[in-house]
Amino acid sequence: MHCRSQSSRRSRGPRGRRGPNPRMLPFASCLPGSLLLWALLLLLLGAASPQDSEEPDSYTECTDGYEWDPDSQHCRDVNECLTIPEACKGEMKCINHYGGYLCLPRSAAVINDLHGEGPPPPVPPVQHPNPCPPGYEPDEQESCVDVDECAQALHDCRPSQQCHNLPGSYQCTCPDGYRKIGPECVDIDECRYRYCQHRCVNLPGSFRCQCEPGFQLGPNNRSCVDVNECDMGAPCEQRCFNSYGTFLCRCHQGYELHRDGFSCSDIDECSYSSYLCQYRCVNEPGRFSCHCPQGYQLLATRLCQDIDECESGAHQCSEAQTCVNFYGGYRCVDTNRCVEPYVQVSDNRCLCPASNPLCREQPSSIVHRYMTITSERSVPADVFQIQATSVYPGAYNAFQIRAGNSQGDFYIRQINNVSAMLVLARPVTGPREYVLDLEMVTMNSLMSYRASSVLRLTVFVGAYTF
Ligand SMILES: *[C@@H]1O[C@H](CO)[C@@H](O)[C@H](O)[C@H]1NC(C)=O
Ligand SMILES: *[C@@H]1O[C@H](CO)[C@@H](O)[C@H](O)[C@H]1NC(C)=O
Repeated sequence: MHCRSQSSRRSRGPRGRRGPNPRMLPFASCLPGSLLLWALLLLLLGAASPQDSEEPDSYTECTDGYEWDPDSQHCRDVNECLTIPEACKGEMKCINHYGGYLCLPRSAAVINDLHGEGPPPPVPPVQHPNPCPPGYEPDEQESCVDVDECAQALHDCRPSQQCHNLPGSYQCTCPDGYRKIGPECVDIDECRYRYCQHRCVNLPGSFRCQCEPGFQLGPNNRSCVDVNECDMGAPCEQRCFNSYGTFLCRCHQGYELHRDGFSCSDIDECSYSSYLCQYRCVNEPGRFSCHCPQGYQLLATRLCQDIDECESGAHQCSEAQTCVNFYGGYRCVDTNRCVEPYVQVSDNRCLCPASNPLCREQPSSIVHRYMTITSERSVPADVFQIQATSVYPGAYNAFQIRAGNSQGDFYIRQINNVSAMLVLARPVTGPREYVLDLEMVTMNSLMSYRASSVLRLTVFVGAYTF
């Protein structure tokens, strides 16, 4: 076994101009077994010992086995195993360590930590004696000024921290919205503490409140206020009602809301019911109206009422004519309707003078009357009552339909010996016109006297049921 001591070179600091000053490494021995470990331990203690304090000078210098590294401004271990040719001889292997090296038998177990791998412990450079208190340094006028550790990157604040320079020192603080947990600044989840009315979104260093749809953030950025969608262009076609958090579309009367909830479509009221109008229903945008046939006018909203043209003056009858109104129209009839041998005795009465032989077999008088009925009347229907105008003691009156009833649409019902009722026997549909001769035969109880008079009744049947 061969061991030898090896002097290491001494490195100069960047400002040093000294010549080499070699020193012996305080280790040079060949030790067996466990003694070797002892030696390692001692060596480490020696290597970690501070700079030689006997030699303060104005230069930054490194102890034996280290050299100045201008990049890191630190003393750096020299790997003598690489820099010294044949650092160990023969069967020995070279083991570098801080501040020196070892030659060990190849079979020797080596503890990894001693290898010199991993970051070297910082070795403080030799400093000028600083006349200032810690955190201060002399300026050109030899007075002490604060060192800005933050600006000069002399702080050890974490990247997550903010450096604040203080007189003589500095402080590592967390930004707003961050909290120190262990060595690091961690974002505070404000959503766990702050009040948002609806929703909270945590952000790095802050938070934000959000509102549900239909709401917007209030002036305090936390509460949510209802949005009046109706003022913000809600897509209602007709009417818009704002409500809490939303809005509703409604339609004007006569319209119904479409399935989409926004648009309105006209309701066809006429299709709902045939009873809306008596005659004809006309749908219009948003409403409906009832129409009546010619000769009628609307009564209220749905009923049709016959216009009495004779009353309203809308007729075209001449002076010699009489206006006769009926359902849906009117008729102008000659005021004098008496035909020979009858003579007119009043507006609608014609008389056959008894002195005229032609009158012997004729009814002694013909009275003209007019009436109107609607179509489709339910039957039997009393339509006209006949009354004897003159009543003689002991006389008896019989009534019959003398003419105009060939189809048997009417019959007479005798009420008593002076009056009878004309009855409609079958439903009739207009427009249609009947001229019925209703005869009244007057007799005395001895049948020695017989007189006949006729009521010529014109029945206008209107085209409609109203
Ligand atoms: C609310 O937020 C806006 C925009 O972020 C800001 O300008 C305003 O000052 C905030 N208001 C309050 C009361 O915090
Ligand atoms: C007919 O009626 C009148 C009046 O009611 C009456 O005076 C007369 O006696 C009646 N004649 C007969 C035959 O019943």
